[in-house]
Amino acid sequence: MKNVPPEAGKSIFCLFFFIFLSCCNLCFSELSSSQTSTMIELSRFLNISDWNLPGSERNPCLWKGVLCSQPDNGSVINLSLSGFDLTNSSFLSLVCQIPTLEHLDVSNNILNSIPDGFMTNCETLVGLKHLNFSGNQVSSFPGFRGFSKLEVLDFSNNNLSGNIGDYGLHALVQLKRLNLNFNNLTGSVPTNLTKSLVILKVSDNHLSGTIPEGIQDYQELTQIDLSDNQLSGSIPNSLGNLTKLGSLLLSNNHLSGSIPESLSSIQTLSRFAANRNRFTGAIPSGITKHLENLDVSYNNLNGSIPGDLLSQRKLIFVDLSFNQFDGWIPQSISPSLVRLRLGSNKLTGQMSSAAFESLQNLTYLEMDNNSLTGLIPRELASCPSLTLLNLAMNKFTGILSHAIGNLTTTLQVMKLQQNKLTGEIPDSIKRLSNLYTLDISWNSLNGSIPPSISQLRNLSTMNLQGNKLSGSIPANIGDLNSLIELQLGDNQLSGRIPVMPPKLQISLNLSYNLFEGPIPTSLSQLQQLEVLDLSNNNFSGEIPDFLTVLVSLTQLILSNNQLTGFAPRFTRNVILNVSGNLGIKSRKDEVYIQKKPPGKSNLILVVIFVATGVLGLVAVIITVIALKFSRRFNGVNNMQVDPVEERSVEVPEVIHGKLLTSNALHRSNINFSKAVEATAHPETALLQTIFWSYYRVPMPSGSSYLIKKLNTRDRLFQQASSEQLEQDLEMLGKLHHPNVMVPIAYVLYSEGFLLFYDFAHSHTLYDVLHSHPSDVVDWTSRYSIAVGIAQGISYLHGSKSNDGVPILLPDLSSKKIMLKSLTEPLVGDIELFKVIDPSRSNSSLSAVAGTIGYIPPGKHIIQNLILSVSEKQELS
Ligand SMILES: *[C@@H]1O[C@H](CO)[C@@H](O)[C@H](O)[C@H]1NC(C)=O
Ligand SMILES: *[C@@H]1O[C@H](CO)[C@@H](O)[C@H](O)[C@H]1NC(C)=O
Ligand SMILES: *[C@@H]1O[C@H](CO)[C@@H](O)[C@H](O)[C@H]1NC(C)=O
Ligand SMILES: *[C@@H]1O[C@H](CO)[C@@H](O)[C@H](O)[C@H]1NC(C)=O
Ligand SMILES: *[C@@H]1O[C@H](CO)[C@@H](O)[C@H](O)[C@H]1NC(C)=O
Ligand SMILES: *[C@@H]1O[C@H](CO)[C@@H](O)[C@H](O)[C@H]1NC(C)=O
Ligand SMILES: *[C@@H]1O[C@H](CO)[C@@H](O)[C@H](O)[C@H]1NC(C)=O
Ligand SMILES: *[C@@H]1O[C@H](CO)[C@@H](O)[C@H](O)[C@H]1NC(C)=O
Ligand SMILES: *[C@@H]1O[C@H](CO)[C@@H](O)[C@H](O)[C@H]1NC(C)=O
Ligand SMILES: *[C@@H]1O[C@H](CO)[C@@H](O)[C@H](O)[C@H]1NC(C)=O
Repeated sequence: MKNVPPEAGKSIFCLFFFIFLSCCNLCFSELSSSQTSTMIELSRFLNISDWNLPGSERNPCLWKGVLCSQPDNGSVINLSLSGFDLTNSSFLSLVCQIPTLEHLDVSNNILNSIPDGFMTNCETLVGLKHLNFSGNQVSSFPGFRGFSKLEVLDFSNNNLSGNIGDYGLHALVQLKRLNLNFNNLTGSVPTNLTKSLVILKVSDNHLSGTIPEGIQDYQELTQIDLSDNQLSGSIPNSLGNLTKLGSLLLSNNHLSGSIPESLSSIQTLSRFAANRNRFTGAIPSGITKHLENLDVSYNNLNGSIPGDLLSQRKLIFVDLSFNQFDGWIPQSISPSLVRLRLGSNKLTGQMSSAAFESLQNLTYLEMDNNSLTGLIPRELASCPSLTLLNLAMNKFTGILSHAIGNLTTTLQVMKLQQNKLTGEIPDSIKRLSNLYTLDISWNSLNGSIPPSISQLRNLSTMNLQGNKLSGSIPANIGDLNSLIELQLGDNQLSGRIPVMPPKLQISLNLSYNLFEGPIPTSLSQLQQLEVLDLSNNNFSGEIPDFLTVLVSLTQLILSNNQLTGFAPRFTRNVILNVSGNLGIKSRKDEVYIQKKPPGKSNLILVVIFVATGVLGLVAVIITVIALKFSRRFNGVNNMQVDPVEERSVEVPEVIHGKLLTSNALHRSNINFSKAVEATAHPETALLQTIFWSYYRVPMPSGSSYLIKKLNTRDRLFQQASSEQLEQDLEMLGKLHHPNVMVPIAYVLYSEGFLLFYDFAHSHTLYDVLHSHPSDVVDWTSRYSIAVGIAQGISYLHGSKSNDGVPILLPDLSSKKIMLKSLTEPLVGDIELFKVIDPSRSNSSLSAVAGTIGYIPPGKHIIQNLILSVSEKQELS
C-alpha cells in the first residue's frame, strides 16, 4: 500500500462507496417485485403509451399517475387513471392485487361496469381511503363489503340506478365525503350511513320521500346537496342542530311548508338554496344572519321582506324573485351585496335613496315586474360596479334624465320599459359606453332622440318604442355598428330616414310614426334584416324592387300607408302585408310557376326550388331564437353564478349529459366531457354561423359526432330555467320521421349546451348538387329528394311539443340537408323553442312588446313546395 498515493486511496474508497450506494438503491429503494410485476401486467392491459417510455418500463414509480410510498418507493399508494378513455374495467381485478393502495382514481373514463367481486371481494384493498369513479357510465354494482377504511367515495356522473339503500353504503364506516350527484338513484335520503359523514351530495337523482329527521344525527356534516330530486314534505326543524353545516342545497324538489327559523342558528351556514320548490308563508327574520348566499326564488313565499334580510354584512347574493312578497323593499342594504334579485313579486312603495348609496359591489340589480313607485333613485349612479339594472314593469315616475343621470360606465344592460317615466332621453346617455341592451320602451318619453346615442358602439338592442318621441331619427344612427335590433314603433317620429345600422338583423320597426315620402333606398343595404315593419305611416310611391333582394327578409309589413302600384314579386318565404294601401293593385292574373314544355328544365326548377327555396328559410330568425335561447338557459339552479368565476377561463364543468336515443351504441361512444373540451376552441369548428358553431368531434371509441354549439355572448344575463331547456331538448329527441334528423344526445354544461348528431351522413345536399358531376344525381333521385324534404318539413310543421309549442326550422339550407342515400334526405337543424305564440305576432311587431319572436314561414310555403313538386310529377 506504500506505493499508493493517498489521493488514489481516497478515490478507491469513494468508488466503493458509490457502488455500495447504488447497490443500496437497488436493494432497498425499489418497488417489491410482486407489485412491479402486477403493475407491468396492468400496463400491458391498459396499453398507456406514457407508461412505456424508454427507461421507465421497469420502474412503475416513474409512471404518470402512479405514486409510490416515500421515502423508499417501496409500494404503490396512489393510482390515477383519470381520463385515459378506458372502456374495459377488467383491469380492476389487477388493481385488487396492490394491497398498499390508498387512492384510486378512475374518473372520466368510459367504464360501464365493475367486474364481479371488485366491490364485494377485493378484501386486499384494506387501506383504500379514496375511490373516485366519477364521470363513467356504470349503471349498477353489488353493494360494498369491506372497504372499511374508505373516506372519500365519488361516484357522481354515472348511470347508477336502483335504490340507494341497496348499495351497502352503511358498510363504509369511515366515510367522510360521499358524492353521488347525477345518477338515476331512487329511494329516500339515507339515514343509516356513518355518523362521521362530512359531505353528502346526492343531487340530480330520483330520490323521493321527505328529508328525514334523522339527518340531524350527522353532526359532522358541512355540506348537504339534495337538489334536483323529488323530495317532498317540509324542512325538518332539527336541521338547525347541524352546527357545522356550511351549505344546504335543496333546489328543485317538491318541498313545501315554511322555511324554518332554526336555520338562522347555524353560525357556519353560508349558503342556503331552496329555489324551485313549493315553500309558503313568510320568510323568517334573521335567516341571513350568517349567510353569504340565499336563493329562495320560484316558491310561494309571501308577507313582507324582513327588515334585516338584506342588511346582514356577509351577504353576497340574494334571490327572492318569483314569489308573492309584498310591502316595501327594506331600507337597509348590505354594501357587500353583489347580486340582488327581487323581480316578479308584489312589492310596492319607493326604493329608498339612502339604501342604494354607494353599494360598492352591487353588480346585478333586478326588481322588475313589481309595483314600485316614485323616482328611480339617483344614488344608483354611485354604485360603481353596476352592470345590470332591470326595473322594468313597475310604476316608476319622474324624468328619465334623473334616472340615467350619472350611471356608471360599467352598465351593460338597462331595462326600464313599461314604467311611467317622462322627459327627454338625456344627452348624457352617451356616457354609458358599455351599454349592450337599452330598453326604455312603453314609457312617456318625449323630445327627440339625442344624436349622441350613436356613440353607444356596443349597443346591440335598442328599444324606444311606445313613447312620445318626435323629430327625426339622428342622422348618424348608422354608426351603431353592433346594433341588431332597432325598435322605434309607436312614437311621433318624422322626417328623413337616415342610413340604418348595417348589421340590423332581428328587426327594424318604424311602424306607427309619421314618416312620409318614398321608402328610402338606403334600406337596400340591410342584407341581414329579417323583419321590416313600416306599417301605419304615410309612406307613398311604389314598393321598391330592392326589397325583393333583401335575402334574409321573412316579414315585410307595409300596411296602412299610401303606397301605390303593383307589389313586386317576393320569394315565398317573405310574408308580405300591404293591406290598407288603397293604391296597391292586385296581380290576380299572374301565375307563380309559368307553364313551360315538360323536360329537364322544369325538374331543374323543382330542385333549384328545393335547394334555394328551402334555402330561403335560412332567414328564419335564427338570431332571435338563439338570443332568446341563450337568455332562457340559465344554470342558476341555486345561484352559483359568481361574476368573478365567470370571467376566468377554465374548462367548463359538465352539468348534465343525456342520451336521447335508446341505441346503447351511442351510450358507450359518447363522452360528454370530451365534447365540451373539444368544442372549447372556436377555431376548430367545421362551420360557423353567427349563432351556432358546428364541430366534428371524434370520440375515444373512434366514432365521430356532429356537434352543434350555441355561441352565447351574454350568458351573464340569462334568465330562465335549465329545467325548461331540458324539456325542450328532450322533446327534440322524441321526433320521429324518416326525413328528419334528430339529435342523439345533449349535454348541459356551465356555459351552455351542445347537441349531438350522427356524423355518418357525410354528404349534404349542397355537396351533391355543387361538387359532384351532375350525372351522379339522376332526375329520379332529385325528385325523391325534393319530396323527402317536403315531407320532412311538413311533418315538422304539423308537430307540436307536449304543451303545444310549434317546432321551428331556423337556418335551414341545402347545406343542412343531409343525405342518407341519394334518395333519402334528412332535414337537419330543427329546434323547438317556446319563443312566442305566433298568433300574437300579427301585423305590427309592437304587439309583441320587447319580445320579437319567430314567425313561422306560413303554411303556404310548404303547400307550394309540395304543389310545385307534384305539378312536376304530372308534367313529366
Ligand atoms: C397500444 O397502443 C398503440 C398506440 O398507442 C397501438 O399502436 C397498439 O396497437 C396498442 N396495442 C394493443 C395491444 O392494443
Ligand atoms: C422514488 O421514485 C421517484 C419517482 O417516482 C423518484 O423521483 C425518487 O427519486 C425515488 N426515490 C428513491 C429513494 O428512490
Ligand atoms: C393521492 O391522490 C389523491 C387524489 O386521488 C390526492 O389527494 C393525494 O394528495 C395523493 N397523495 C399524494 C401523496 O400525492
Ligand atoms: C375486457 O378484457 C378482458 C381481458 O382482456 C376480456 O376477456 C374481455 O372480453 C374484455 N371485455 C370487453 C367488453 O371487451
Ligand atoms: C374525482 O374526479 C373528478 C374528475 O377528475 C374530480 O373533478 C373530482 O374532484 C374527484 N373527486 C374527488 C372527491 O376528489
Ligand atoms: C339503510 O337505509 C336504506 C333506506 O334509506 C335501506 O334501504 C337499507 O336497507 C338500510 N340499510 C340498513 C343496513 O339498515
Ligand atoms: C332512471 O330511472 C327511472 C326510474 O327508475 C327509469 O324509468 C329510467 O329509465 C332510468 N333512466 C335511465 C337513463 O337509466
Ligand atoms: C335538535 O333540535 C330539536 C328541535 O329543534 C331540539 O328539540 C333538540 O333538543 C335538538 N337536539 C340537539 C341534540 O341539539
Ligand atoms: C367588495 O368586493 C371585494 C372584492 O371581492 C371585497 O374585497 C370587499 O370586501 C367587498 N366589499 C364589501 C363592502 O364587502
Ligand atoms: C354627475 O356627475 C358630475 C360630476 O361627477 C356632477 O357634477 C353632476 O351633478 C352629476 N349629475 C347627476 C345628475 O348626478
